[in-house]
Amino acid sequence: MTYHLSASPTTVRLKRYTKTEQSEILGDSADPFGVADAGLTWLPKDDHFGIRQEGRLVAHAGLLRLPISIGGLDTEVVGVGGVAVAPDLRGRGLARLVVTAALDHARTMGPQNGLLFCRPPLVPLYQRLGWRTLDQDVHVEQSGGLVIMPLRTMWTPLHNGANWPDGAVRLRSLPM
Ligand SMILES: CC(C)(COP(=O)(O)OP(=O)(O)OC[C@H]1O[C@@H](n2cnc3c(N)ncnc32)[C@H](O)[C@@H]1OP(=O)(O)O)[C@@H](O)C(=O)NCCC(=O)NCCS
Repeated sequence: MTYHLSASPTTVRLKRYTKTEQSEILGDSADPFGVADAGLTWLPKDDHFGIRQEGRLVAHAGLLRLPISIGGLDTEVVGVGGVAVAPDLRGRGLARLVVTAALDHARTMGPQNGLLFCRPPLVPLYQRLGWRTLDQDVHVEQSGGLVIMPLRTMWTPLHNGANWPDGAVRLRSLPM
């Protein structure tokens, strides 16, 4: 039987996204996101978006609302995480597609801005998708207390005119 890639893959809301679904996309490597060195504990995401091709899950992006303090004011952001594309299908726009669909949903969630953490080599990719770097220390919670996020922090406006306020940034939860 010959399998053809769907000409225009569509993104769907996933009912579940566990280690099993993540392995379906990324395989079983110990550190598929390349962030183990940071030694951080991460939050699972609440809402999951995925792309299936021929029944196989090939891409994912997750979302959750997070409390954050910016310049001493408490607010919320939509955290984006777990962005993943199957290794054999990278470079074909699947991350763009699944992140765009996740952000379309994020715009219905209330917060003004989206937030993500990524390894430095991924900054140009997310910039290409409209994200901006936050060039300041960002504190996040860990079991032992606050730590400075060692990865790069990026944000994107979810609504017209949304800006990132000035001031110290403290995520009032584990990172996502
Ligand atoms: C990071 C990852 C999700 C990217 O998936 P992908 O499907 O290859 O990405 P896309 O093809 O959708 O690329 C997105 C955009 O970034 C651009 N891009 C990719 N690499 C780039 C680079 N180094 N510099 C600038 N732009 C880049 C692409 O051209 C594309 O832009 P376009 O749509 O305008 O052409 C994938 O490599 C992956 O799963 N990595 C392992 C898990 C991981 O590290 N996830 C990130 C967690 S933050």
